[in-house]
Amino acid sequence: MAEMSYRTALVTGASSGLGRGLALWFGRRGVKVYAAARRRENLEALANEARAAGATVEPVELDVADADATLARIRELDAASGGLDLIIANAGYGQETSGKRIKWETVKQTIDVNITGAAATLCAVLPQMVERKRGHVVGVASLGAFRGLPRNAAYSASKAFLHTFMESLRVDLRGTGVSVTCLYPGFVKSEMTAKNKFNMPFLLETEEAVERMGKAILRGEAQYAFPWQMAGVMGLVKSLPNALFDAAMRKAR
Ligand SMILES: NC(=O)c1ccc[n+]([C@@H]2O[C@H](COP(=O)([O-])OP(=O)(O)OC[C@H]3O[C@@H](n4cnc5c(N)ncnc54)[C@H](OP(=O)(O)O)[C@@H]3O)[C@@H](O)[C@H]2O)c1
Repeated sequence: MAEMSYRTALVTGASSGLGRGLALWFGRRGVKVYAAARRRENLEALANEARAAGATVEPVELDVADADATLARIRELDAASGGLDLIIANAGYGQETSGKRIKWETVKQTIDVNITGAAATLCAVLPQMVERKRGHVVGVASLGAFRGLPRNAAYSASKAFLHTFMESLRVDLRGTGVSVTCLYPGFVKSEMTAKNKFNMPFLLETEEAVERMGKAILRGEAQYAFPWQMAGVMGLVKSLPNALFDAAMRKAR
């Protein structure tokens, strides 16, 4: 697989965790990175850290839950930058909500950010990329996409959407010059997982996960699930019949 090269990139959810790490990772490799999120001060700090390392990272204040604003802003950036080469839809919302005490606000925010926001991010300039015969769109899904995990109806379903969406795009875009990658992290240290009170098997450091994700993107992998131990477990879980799956999930939680 040939390694890709990019002049410009947009990373959403770049104010913390994996998105912040990916923005720096590509910035350090000479890519001009637009780093998007809601927390302006975090993005400014990221831009300063990048500058000190000789990289260019531009803060973009954006709430991806507002699809119209997301489409408009990304189209503006595409025009102003001479064409975005790489778009990483990484922004994510991960709040548990038990089916027994389901909170509509949590379900809605998950759909708004992880589905609507990710889809708007990925679609914004896809026609322009196809026209240019150049580009790479990346979705950050999760190993939680492959089954409906307990207390994660909205989160698992939102990542299953991304998994299926990216798969169709990959098939459609074959031969256009636009690449499609879907990433499936297991547990990684970040603000999102810091609040988890349960045991997180094979938990990765943020930097380690970023390194693996960055390299998978450069290789142009269609799908990349990691770490292999957790991907293997989820591969098994995926193939379990419902009765066994339900029993295993009751025991695990
Ligand atoms: N950590 C894990 O174990 C793990 C595992 C599998 C998949 N993932 C996925 O990896 C991605 C990154 O997560 P993370 O672990 O790095 O968590 P994180 O540190 O909590 O980062 C989430 C990022 O998403 C941004 N975001 C949230 N809502 C947003 C909105 N409405 N508009 C724009 N940006 C928004 C946040 O920025 P602002 O709050 O500043 O807007 C933040 O930069 C997510 O898609 C997550 O589902 C994580």
